[in-house]
Amino acid sequence: MIIAANLKTNLTRHDTASYIEEVDKCAKQSNQEVFVFPAISSLDSFSAEKVEVGTQNAYPTVNGAFTGEIGLEQLEEFGIKTILIGHSERRHILGETQEFIAKKFAYFKEQGFTIVYCVGEPKEKREAGKEAMMEYISAQYEGIDTSYEKLIIAYEPVWAIGTGLTPTLEDIEDIHTELKQKSSAPLLYGGSVKVTNAKEVLSLKNVDGILVGSAALYAEHFCTMIQYA
Ligand code: G3P
Repeated sequence: MIIAANLKTNLTRHDTASYIEEVDKCAKQSNQEVFVFPAISSLDSFSAEKVEVGTQNAYPTVNGAFTGEIGLEQLEEFGIKTILIGHSERRHILGETQEFIAKKFAYFKEQGFTIVYCVGEPKEKREAGKEAMMEYISAQYEGIDTSYEKLIIAYEPVWAIGTGLTPTLEDIEDIHTELKQKSSAPLLYGGSVKVTNAKEVLSLKNVDGILVGSAALYAEHFCTMIQYA
């Protein structure tokens, strides 16, 4: 199983260091693969033996004139080899297009990064029926090499992120089964996963792990989810 925490724009550098230290301790007691994506300001503030620390974002360049971004040169300095791409907050709040996301994917694939690639539909697409929803999700695979050996896909329905709402377990299993036909990469579920539902989500067919946001902000809670796996 792959258990991943996306800390988003939360926790200071100081708090992230103790967070990763604590998570590393419990990760070492498990056989699961554990990822943590802290804020970019915290990418050099950890020591971890088992936890793989990745960046929530980067620009597809070694360095250059890209104000506010981080490039390969800076990531390499911190030893970062894992990146989250296509997260719904970057698609919908930061306006990243599929074309740009595919470019970013190709660049970091070329650099040999492990890529956690996110897909998922907004509420109106879910309500428009399964066909429209799958069509929307399929478009998020455009330009993406789904056979890349260091690819992990995360299905995160946008309406479930940070809302406390989740699809039914049957729905998660059903969509995951469909998405597995597009790529045999490990497939995580994300969107309001908490200590109270992690165990049942992890037990579903074609769910290879979870990508957790708010409920992972407390190391103790995240460790409980690692133990469930
Ligand atoms: O990337 C994980 C995330 O988007 C899910 O957030 O807060 O619903 O667990 P949350």
